[in-house]
Amino acid sequence: MPQSNPPPDRPPIVVAGAHDLEAAILKRQLEGIAELELVETALAREWARERRPQIALLVMDHQRDEIVALCRMLAADGVACIMVSRDRDPDTILLAMRSGARDFAYLEGEDSDVRRAVTAIPAEAPAARPHRGVVLAVFGSKGGVGATTLATNLAGALCEAEPQHRTVILDVDAQLGDVLTFLDVPSRYAWSELRANLARLDDELVHRSLTEHESGIRVVAQAGDPEDADLIDAAAVTETIAFLRQHYDYVIVDGLRDFRETSLAALDAADRVLLAMTQDVPALKNASRCLGVFRRLGYGGDKVAVVVNRFQKRAKLDLDTIVDALGVGIDATVANDFTTVHAAIDQGTLLVKSAPHSHVTEDVRDLVRFLGVTRRARRRSWFGRAQ
Ligand SMILES: Nc1ncnc2c1ncn2[C@@H]1O[C@H](COP(=O)(O)OP(=O)(O)O)[C@@H](O)[C@H]1O
Ligand SMILES: [Mg+2]
Repeated sequence: MPQSNPPPDRPPIVVAGAHDLEAAILKRQLEGIAELELVETALAREWARERRPQIALLVMDHQRDEIVALCRMLAADGVACIMVSRDRDPDTILLAMRSGARDFAYLEGEDSDVRRAVTAIPAEAPAARPHRGVVLAVFGSKGGVGATTLATNLAGALCEAEPQHRTVILDVDAQLGDVLTFLDVPSRYAWSELRANLARLDDELVHRSLTEHESGIRVVAQAGDPEDADLIDAAAVTETIAFLRQHYDYVIVDGLRDFRETSLAALDAADRVLLAMTQDVPALKNASRCLGVFRRLGYGGDKVAVVVNRFQKRAKLDLDTIVDALGVGIDATVANDFTTVHAAIDQGTLLVKSAPHSHVTEDVRDLVRFLGVTRRARRRSWFGRAQ
């Protein structure tokens, strides 16, 4: 094989799912282009989060489900994933693409397909990838449990705790999202517009362009034409979150209400998923189903937190019953206070401002502390078994 390429100037490429034979093939194909780091599939995401490779080569042939899940997670973290397989079945290629892969390459063949796929990705200076913010996704176990209330006020409490840091809310419900209404702000820079300009925006320009709430929180939403919602697909969600976390310390995601591909893209990208529920049977049943899906997606107890909103001590469905039904602990409760919450929404303001001393606001602050994403002390899970 001709070696006309200059010596490797790329950072090491992470390889997962490869047995010895595949590792040897990949090494041969990429000689002179990049060093390879072989990593165990189960450890690959952690490894990538620390070392932040630009490219991952994922061999699908041995542990297909694990590799597909890994691909979704790495893609959500902004890693360019190339799925690699001996299998030339179009369904395999489709599966790879649906998992967020940038490219698909045949493992074997005289045409050095892996080499082609890697060199097609332009080398990127490590300095071009600034710090990463924390992504918190709020998922309502059913409509009306208070997901948007929690998302917006969580953002408010984060701003209060760390005013020096920047917070953005992404409303992934491109059709009927509520965030702009809750904050009473007109959309200044629609999501589709932001997406079209991702490559050229720098830190300040992003911050100045995005829709701003009086609290300083920025909002990315696709308001206006529900037809435009089609512009927002799973790739848009992944790209936008990867982009926002480069520019913001906290990215709060609201508008998740199902397990379609756009939602999965957001959930995968999240560092923490807050499953919001209320003390009623439909919300509990759905919460249980959601936890099952999260488990199947490979999310551990350290990723998922259960939050009981509109909490009332004397409700018929008490916390012990909920813990028993779910089989996991409840991580936080937020008090039921319709008057205070409703007034805040009505005024387009946040609880930390409109009702700084109320119980419900204290609970949201506690939730922020529990999440342990700020420098304040982490609070332990209150009820039930450790997750
Ligand atoms: N902690 C709370 N106490 C009382 N009412 C609440 C609370 N959280 C939310 N609500 C009310 O519940 C309704 C639905 O909230 P919303 O955030 O829109 O839910 P979702 O986004 O899950 O559909 C809103 O009218 C809001 O005022
Ligand atoms: Mg909502």
